[in-house]
Amino acid sequence: MSTPWNKIVTKDINQKPNQQHLIQQAVDLLKKGQLIAIPTETVYGLAADAHNETAVAKIFATKQRPSTNPLIIHLYNSAAMEAFATHIPAKAYSLAEHFWPGPLTLILERHPNVPKIVTGNQDTIALRVPNHPLTLELLKAFGGGLAAPSANRYGRISPTTARHVQEELGNQVDLILDGGPCNIGIESTIVSLVDSEVTILRQGSISALQIEAVLNESVRVKTSAQINHFSHHSRLPLVPGMELSHYAPSIPLYLHSLEDLLTKIEALSSSLLKHNKTVNILSFASKPDYFSPDFGIWIRAEQDPILYAKQLYGRLRNLDSKNAECILVETPPQSIEWAAILDRLQRASTRI
Ligand code: TXA
Ligand code: MG
Repeated sequence: MSTPWNKIVTKDINQKPNQQHLIQQAVDLLKKGQLIAIPTETVYGLAADAHNETAVAKIFATKQRPSTNPLIIHLYNSAAMEAFATHIPAKAYSLAEHFWPGPLTLILERHPNVPKIVTGNQDTIALRVPNHPLTLELLKAFGGGLAAPSANRYGRISPTTARHVQEELGNQVDLILDGGPCNIGIESTIVSLVDSEVTILRQGSISALQIEAVLNESVRVKTSAQINHFSHHSRLPLVPGMELSHYAPSIPLYLHSLEDLLTKIEALSSSLLKHNKTVNILSFASKPDYFSPDFGIWIRAEQDPILYAKQLYGRLRNLDSKNAECILVETPPQSIEWAAILDRLQRASTRI
């Protein structure tokens, strides 16, 4: 099975006849239990009919993802929550009203009709309504929920363009819907509503402050390090995808202050040149004059966290070149606007 380029469809959503045909093709594939890649505002997803256990099993196989790591179900609207969750608290409706369609995933109690394979055998379920016109059209036409993790191999960088999906999983998906580059660029904020206390399990572009403002109560934020420790010792829902090492390029990535980054380049330079290796940089600073193309790639990052997030995964893919020894990334600021980005970079980085 291969995915020729002509199956990747352009984002010109004004071409209605074409889009209708395409959406019908996508619906037919999903109904037959096949996998398709879908655009969302965060990252591309690898989607299957959430009620088809064989199709969901294909997602785990294709991603090489452990079967204990639950999937997010994508819905057309908040009314559809009731088919997938029970005992839905009022808070869920408030958050849905404010943030859906959008980059927010709610953890609720699983409806007994949902196959357990979707939730990695847990009694909780992750739900979200994505904000992308093409995928919303698809969800409407499909009429059910789509289980969709990010469309990358397990542990790797999430795709933010159709081409990324094609490069990584191309011959294993039956259709890639091209909705253009993802607007947000990092995965949704995950909020657990299954305990009395509201807890953010994965940080994203919707911040704890925004959620607190809607709920009028304080929320806990669990960092990936805390979750990894915590889930072994408490009732907090397991978030197996929160492993400390995730979103990783194939070569080591190190996070440094600018000063340490420059020192490291200097320390590495002679041995790199001798071995014909390079070092690739993502920094807020402009490229120093001495950093010639022989040294590697130097990408100057934006100071704006929204733009930075949008470009992050594409840039990490570009910096992940075979002849490079490593990627050095200048540590972003510690402020709340950068929290989700810092989380992803820490989990992409190699621990020493
Ligand atoms: O933005 C996103 O959320 C993207 C797009 C495609 O929607 N999806 C995404 O899916 O990032 P994935 O599978 O790569 O990450 C889902 C995360 C994992 O860390 C998983 O463990 C967690 O959600 N999760 C899913 N169900 C859960 C549950 N019942 N309880 C706790 N965590 C859950
Ligand atoms: Mg993922």
